[in-house]
Amino acid sequence: MNSPINVLILAAGLGTRMKSDQAKVLHKIGSRPLIAHVLRTAAQLDPENIFVVVGHQADKVEQAALASLDAATAEKLRFVLQAEQRGTGHAVKCASEAIKQASGLLVVFYGDTPAVKAETLRKLIAEHERGRHAATLITIRIEDPPAYGRIVRDAQGNFLKIVEERDCSPDQRAITELNPGFYCFDIPALLAALKKLTPHNAQGEYYLTDVPQHLLEADLPVGTVFHQDAGELDGINTRIELAAMWKRLRRETLDRLMASGVTIVDPDSTYIDDSVEIGRDTVIHPQVVIEGDSRIGGNCEIHSWSRLVNVHIGDGCRVLNSCVLINSRLAGRNSVGPFAHFRTEVELAEEANIGNFVEAKKSKLGRKSKSMHLTYLGDATIGDRVNIGAGTITCNYDGKNKNPTVIEDDVKIGSDTMLVAPVRVGQGSISGAGSVIIKDVPPGSLVAGVPAQVKKKIKE
Ligand code: UD1
Ligand code: CA
Repeated sequence: MNSPINVLILAAGLGTRMKSDQAKVLHKIGSRPLIAHVLRTAAQLDPENIFVVVGHQADKVEQAALASLDAATAEKLRFVLQAEQRGTGHAVKCASEAIKQASGLLVVFYGDTPAVKAETLRKLIAEHERGRHAATLITIRIEDPPAYGRIVRDAQGNFLKIVEERDCSPDQRAITELNPGFYCFDIPALLAALKKLTPHNAQGEYYLTDVPQHLLEADLPVGTVFHQDAGELDGINTRIELAAMWKRLRRETLDRLMASGVTIVDPDSTYIDDSVEIGRDTVIHPQVVIEGDSRIGGNCEIHSWSRLVNVHIGDGCRVLNSCVLINSRLAGRNSVGPFAHFRTEVELAEEANIGNFVEAKKSKLGRKSKSMHLTYLGDATIGDRVNIGAGTITCNYDGKNKNPTVIEDDVKIGSDTMLVAPVRVGQGSISGAGSVIIKDVPPGSLVAGVPAQVKKKIKE
């Protein structure tokens, strides 16, 4: 049949059990909030519209949602405000006017289920279309069930209704087939059934889970599809569940990377976001953290206690122990660290090396250039084959402005040189140890002293 697909995500609740000032769907797993995880999965269904019901901290949730998708997909987002949270059915009711405009089917689930896979939602949709149902829901089985809605069936095993745990009779409470909260609806049938919801239950709320029963009463077919992996569909209610889910998703990412040829020495102590890509034969040592939009090439080594955020690293690079590299690029065959800090926007051309106790910010090093010891490089553009001596500092800040330093190709900066920016050191020049360079150095000069003076011409 292949009807157009629409998705509705409920994300209006505060999440009382998180004991937080922040709405539950804004809590993060990896570097992305829960809402971003579910939206990215929803986007994989290539839906016509993604409706999101927001309430608590609506503005922040909307911003997080918009930021989590590429521009083309973000255009499919339609936010609906549920000012007062009167239950999951009430949340969908609030979206009625918006949903009415859509055609095809509607997949509904909750914003706190970050592990759900698109293929599981596709299985739900396929069963819905195969059976020509008005509603289809996923069911799971857990012995010793948590506080989930129970799936009540008749003696022949036909689905009858969902009963919330708090409304269960003792017999119903013993049922181990449960509602994880993933539904597919025919839109007109859903809209008609929503009108029949009442808050006559233990929580005084409008339950979305009453919709299937109303559809059956109207002689419309309701189907179920059983899902083996209950953990994939877990909703997060507490910080303990958040940590457990983080661990699960972390392991999925590490397994994917190992399956593609990356060595992870100790998966239990390695933290890599699901957005990260790593090439073959790269080795990740214990206690490494890699976050955000990071891409690491093949045959690299990332050593322990390093944290990489939004880095692009070419093939054959070594990041030694205890480096913090943020928003930076290593072209290939670079060595960095131990104990290097790239604060932001550092670019190394091929085979450029950075050693220990070097801090860099908004700086570029050309091919085969080196800065190996105890140095600060800020707003510096450094050419090819430059050697920066130990203890060199770009004095880039005059109290008001950040000023640039340019060091041309084949320069040797002597140990403990201060480069008082803005300043340019011409090609092939040398500075003596302890020089304080306050004005531009012509190409091919040896400078020394405080402030540094040209001593002689060393090259023509
Ligand atoms: C719900 C189901 C239950 C199922 C369980 C699975 C209902 C009535 N019950 O219960 O059968 O087993 O999920 O996790 O649906 N929300 C709103 N507006 C509201 C209320 C909730 O947007 O007025 C959102 C919440 O932000 C949350 C989601 O809906 O993300 C689920 O709400 P929650 O109160 O956690 O439902 P459960 O009691 O867990
Ligand atoms: Ca819940």
